[in-house]
Amino acid sequence: MKPASDKLLLRALAGETLPRPPVWLMRQAGRYLPEYRAVRAEADGFLDLCFTPDLAVEVTLQPIRRYGFDASILFSDILVVPHALGQKVWFEEGIGPRLEAIEKPADLAGLSRDGLHEALAPVYETVRRLRQDLPQEVTLIGFAGAPWTVASYMLEGGSSKDFAAGKKWAYGAAEDFQRLIDLLVEATGDYLIAQIDAGVEVVQIFDSWAGIWPEAALRRWCLEPVKALTARLKKERPDVPVILFPRGAGLLYRDFALESGAAGLGLDTTLPLGWAARELQSKVAVQGNLDPIMLVAGGEQLDRAVDHILTELGQGPFIFNLGHGIVPETPLENVSRMMDRIHGWDAAARRAG
Ligand code: CP3
Repeated sequence: MKPASDKLLLRALAGETLPRPPVWLMRQAGRYLPEYRAVRAEADGFLDLCFTPDLAVEVTLQPIRRYGFDASILFSDILVVPHALGQKVWFEEGIGPRLEAIEKPADLAGLSRDGLHEALAPVYETVRRLRQDLPQEVTLIGFAGAPWTVASYMLEGGSSKDFAAGKKWAYGAAEDFQRLIDLLVEATGDYLIAQIDAGVEVVQIFDSWAGIWPEAALRRWCLEPVKALTARLKKERPDVPVILFPRGAGLLYRDFALESGAAGLGLDTTLPLGWAARELQSKVAVQGNLDPIMLVAGGEQLDRAVDHILTELGQGPFIFNLGHGIVPETPLENVSRMMDRIHGWDAAARRAG
């Protein structure tokens, strides 16, 4: 059967096993690249970079030019959604994201979807330009944060060690927390559909903090909202596959494979590969999961780690990636070394040998 597309990422997400997997890296546009740091220094702030199409297009293309990844992820951030809902969001040098925290249920009244598309219009413009500028064989990925992960930043006012604010709402004021999650399901759906209409070919949903919950809460606050989101996308934009990254979900990755509706699952660094191949890969394409710090370490141990992932996951639908975002101290030559190793891989030859 002729594949619907010749793009490697779309073929893997359609369930094909490929001679060599497509590869891209989470946070592939970022501070490890000197050309990113140069553009970043020109922008007034991080959000300004996200909302200036000229600059956002440029930094999206930088890693494609340097390394020839098979997919390009739109340059933006998951926190543009709270910003577009009316919450104050800013980024502090050396600290990271800051938000004017939502402290009590009455604060939810200050959030509204009314201005969403107007606030996010520069992101859609970036997507339209990228579809024109990207090489024909490169797939454009759009993204958003999952409702829980975004909610955690909205309630904590930034990054957190223990997620106590989010947990207190979820355990002690579940109805109010549900209202926030429902609002984010709606807003995130609107946002992803607009990205698709502007030209993204795949969407990835980042649930970076899924791994902090006990089982029942993980189902209610991560799996259920993501299911609602993918069901809407499937109904309204059926041709666009979804990759879900429920980082830290452990054994519940299996439930995400069976129930979430995603075509692909991003595996975090800790997930055992043999288990993932057996339990997940017959149901979905898998993506991952090189330890980002192994990419900092480099050398022969990097080659062995790359080979191990290719051997374990390369016999089914698979996308090579990291288990979490690339870190700023990653040496450029280690990324080249990893790319050479993956490009030299041939699953058929390995099977025959
Ligand atoms: O290249 C790409 O992957 C596309 C762009 C992208 C960014 N953030 C750019 C960014 C994507 C997909 C994200 C997702 C994101 N943002 C997540 C989910 C993925 C994950 O890492 O778990 C989360 C939790 C955020 C929120 C966020 N944004 C944090 C916690 C931080 C600070 C941490 C840090 O690395 O500084 C950011 C800032 C951010 N987002 C940077 C970049 C390139 C660095 C900011 C800078 O240049 O000063």
